[in-house]
Amino acid sequence: MSTKAQIPPATRTQPSVPRLPAADFFSAAESRIDQWRQLSAVVRAWQAAAGHGSTEDARFTDAVELFGSVRPLEGFYAYPGARLLAVIEQALADRNAGICARLVQHVSAALLSGSYRHDAAAWDPMQEDSATATDVVPPDLQSGNGHRPYFEVLVVTPTDPSQWERARHDLKRLRRPDDAFVYEVIQVGTFEDAVIAMTCNFNLQAVVLRDGFEFRSRYDSPVLREFLLRHMRGGEESTEPGELATTLARAIKRYRPELDLYLLTDRAVEALAGSDEAAPLRRVFHDVEELMELHLAILDGINDRYDTPYFSNLKKYAQRPIGTFHALPIARGKSVFRSNWIRDMGHFYGTNLFLAESSATTGGLDSLLEPTGTIKRAQDATARAFGAKRAYFGTNGTSTSNKIVVQAICRPGDIVIVDRNCHKSHHYGLVLAGAQPYYVEAYPLTHFSMYGGVPLASIKKALLACKAQGTLDRVRVIDLTNCTFDGHMYNPARVMEECLAIKPDLIFLWDEAWFGFARFNAFHRRRTAMGAAAALTERFSSDTYREEYDKFKATTGPLDPQNPALLTTRLLPDPDVVRLRVYQTCSTHKSMSALRQGSMILVWDEDFHLVEGPFEEAFFTHTSTSPNLQILASLDVARRQMELEGYELTMRAAEIAFRLRREVNGHPLISKYFHFASPAEMVPAEFRASGITDYGRPHATWKDLLDAWDSDEFALDPTRLTLVCGSAGFDGTQFKGLLAERFDIQINKTSRNSVLLQTNINNTRSDAALLVKALADLSREIDRRLEDGGPAEREAFDARVRSLMTDVPDLPDFSHFHEAFRDAPGGSSNEGHMRDAFFMAYDDANCEFIKLASPEIDQRLANGPDMVSANFVIPYPPGFPIMVPGQVIRPDTIAFMRKLDVKEIHGYHAGHGLKLLKPSALTARSER
Ligand SMILES: Cc1ncc(COP(=O)(O)O)c(C=O)c1O
Repeated sequence: MSTKAQIPPATRTQPSVPRLPAADFFSAAESRIDQWRQLSAVVRAWQAAAGHGSTEDARFTDAVELFGSVRPLEGFYAYPGARLLAVIEQALADRNAGICARLVQHVSAALLSGSYRHDAAAWDPMQEDSATATDVVPPDLQSGNGHRPYFEVLVVTPTDPSQWERARHDLKRLRRPDDAFVYEVIQVGTFEDAVIAMTCNFNLQAVVLRDGFEFRSRYDSPVLREFLLRHMRGGEESTEPGELATTLARAIKRYRPELDLYLLTDRAVEALAGSDEAAPLRRVFHDVEELMELHLAILDGINDRYDTPYFSNLKKYAQRPIGTFHALPIARGKSVFRSNWIRDMGHFYGTNLFLAESSATTGGLDSLLEPTGTIKRAQDATARAFGAKRAYFGTNGTSTSNKIVVQAICRPGDIVIVDRNCHKSHHYGLVLAGAQPYYVEAYPLTHFSMYGGVPLASIKKALLACKAQGTLDRVRVIDLTNCTFDGHMYNPARVMEECLAIKPDLIFLWDEAWFGFARFNAFHRRRTAMGAAAALTERFSSDTYREEYDKFKATTGPLDPQNPALLTTRLLPDPDVVRLRVYQTCSTHKSMSALRQGSMILVWDEDFHLVEGPFEEAFFTHTSTSPNLQILASLDVARRQMELEGYELTMRAAEIAFRLRREVNGHPLISKYFHFASPAEMVPAEFRASGITDYGRPHATWKDLLDAWDSDEFALDPTRLTLVCGSAGFDGTQFKGLLAERFDIQINKTSRNSVLLQTNINNTRSDAALLVKALADLSREIDRRLEDGGPAEREAFDARVRSLMTDVPDLPDFSHFHEAFRDAPGGSSNEGHMRDAFFMAYDDANCEFIKLASPEIDQRLANGPDMVSANFVIPYPPGFPIMVPGQVIRPDTIAFMRKLDVKEIHGYHAGHGLKLLKPSALTARSER
């Protein structure tokens, strides 16, 4: 019988209960290294105070206290391990500052460099280098047999801790010199301890659950309790002793889906293995009868993720002596290395690049256009890693992936509700597919000259307008960008749920060009398209949802499109008819270790069979018949990396972003001129029901952040940092140049008064320090300039800041398509035949040009006839089309263009002026 989890309140508050560093619970791994370094400094201070009576005593007490606060978490990591910790404890007990300082420094350095993963000396308290490794060293580290990736295995066990050392030893004995990987084991005795380990130990790759362990940790951490409730479906799941292992397995899978889970039980394994309970487990073993099997299974699990079918095959291919008689003379590099003139290219790139070039699709190289071998396997592994049902590789960026998906899922005449502010590939995709865009507007952030996301109410309004007009059956796709360039994250589960309540077979295209990494970050995942698709699938099939839906249906009745209350009512789809059809595109190269242009299409479409043919056609339409093999291989490798260390890398990238935000915004000098825009500045209060205003203490705890990300309509991705520089008198473009030229800092994009920085898996804390230093230097210079320059300088500075920060142009909304391009002119929906307008402009006779400064523009705006854009006009920044083909131009668009002080405007040449469709051509079309 299962009972609902009653996680007992934290009752143990006696001082003897070890307390975890609760505030930084999720960044424990990062702060741990800091703490060891700090400990090293404190112990050295104690050593230096030797013989100084009370000072020595005080330094010694500092060391003992700090070690006492470092110690509790150490049980969750294999390194430094019981042996090294015991010697440090002994040195403290003996008050031997010299030994203690050497040992702590030894551990601290190994942790910082990660050398313990491959250097035997790191494990040895007596030695400084691996040449003299002793028996305390994990045996496999001693073999020195090339690089073998290192990981850790967590064993959750009911056995007495006094038995743990022996059990670890038994597993270690199973290792063989030819194992491809090497691992260390950590043991914990409770459910809660397992959760702590999985959260803060980045080396963890597998968890072995031995039935019968307890629930409650002896550690006191309110954050942990909070966190647990969340990952046990709000406390709905069973914590009955017999079911703890499988409840834990599910909780782990929700938090770190990449981990391999094994169950050792004396229950009837055959029956259990086939049950839903066992679904998250990789294998079930009958107790410990097959220890060798377990060891091999663990290695096999890692190998599944490590395996890169395409990359590995390409490496093999490159090593074979192959004569080529096909095109691509650069393959094998002979034309390069033998050349008198281009040999430097060969030296620059090295031989492998050329050896790995081929135009063959045989010999295991497979064909991207019809994959059946290594590319297919690599794509399948990608689907698994990213939580999709299918995955496709692209070698021409997400620009092309978007066009593929748009063409695959849209037919001519379909209506697509689309964010006008989305990347141009969507607009061009719609032109090519002949679908009619129904543009919806993102909320404007006028003060930063940028847009956020499209409010759910606007999307629902568009759907209801189509319903009222009788065109809902033609609405096929909702197309949105998540997260936006500037970091606005939708709540995709909520958006899809409510839209599906209005039309249950809608297809969603989420452009997650910037957001591919998010799958691997335990916090971001909830805001991804694939994460939402998985969550909704689980939700719609549950009994609880059915009850919720029945109640909703009874109170709301049939949806009346004229009822304005529907815009604010939470709508629920009928679980019996709803279909989940979700597409996500991501620029792997933007946030993971893929070469430029490497992109992925991820699919969770319950009705994929309906579009499989069109998808193939669209793929053929846009994909080169000579795709770049190196890009394909890098996609395969990027997937491997994320599946094995994505959690560590993405949590670190977020941690660096939090530190940067805290450091810059709290810095007394820097914050006079610069700051990172907070969630409150980037997301209007109406979309932030949680009330969160900023990240990190004192503004918000982790709980606040998770609450906000679970429920708010929009949240700000902390890794996308809008640095406001207008308040220092710099416009975005100017500041970008300054950072690059003077400080060697490259940034992402600019707006009128800000620049966008992004932390990713590549960043280190040194990068963060470089930026902070640059901002401090610049702030000091401004301070000095203002001090030395007197009132005139101050006045000029204030005027510049005012013009950048307050005198900002209003952002123009999409107006409407000219009636010549609308099926129902004057109707409540706004879709139009953009493709027809686009191609009309191919005929010069249909077009005219008017200069932007010409009075004719003002006169046409006042008296007509309408000015209608002949093409897309896209200024950079901000990078969204302020005009699309067939759009009627309004005064606000002209005012915005006239105020724009950017150099790059795609689709507009100042020498020619605005390209318009002639009124006569429009009349002729209307009369057709
Ligand atoms: C939201 C969005 N989608 C798609 C793209 C295009 O991606 P790619 O550069 O991989 O072609 C970009 C590029 O910046 C983008 O910002």
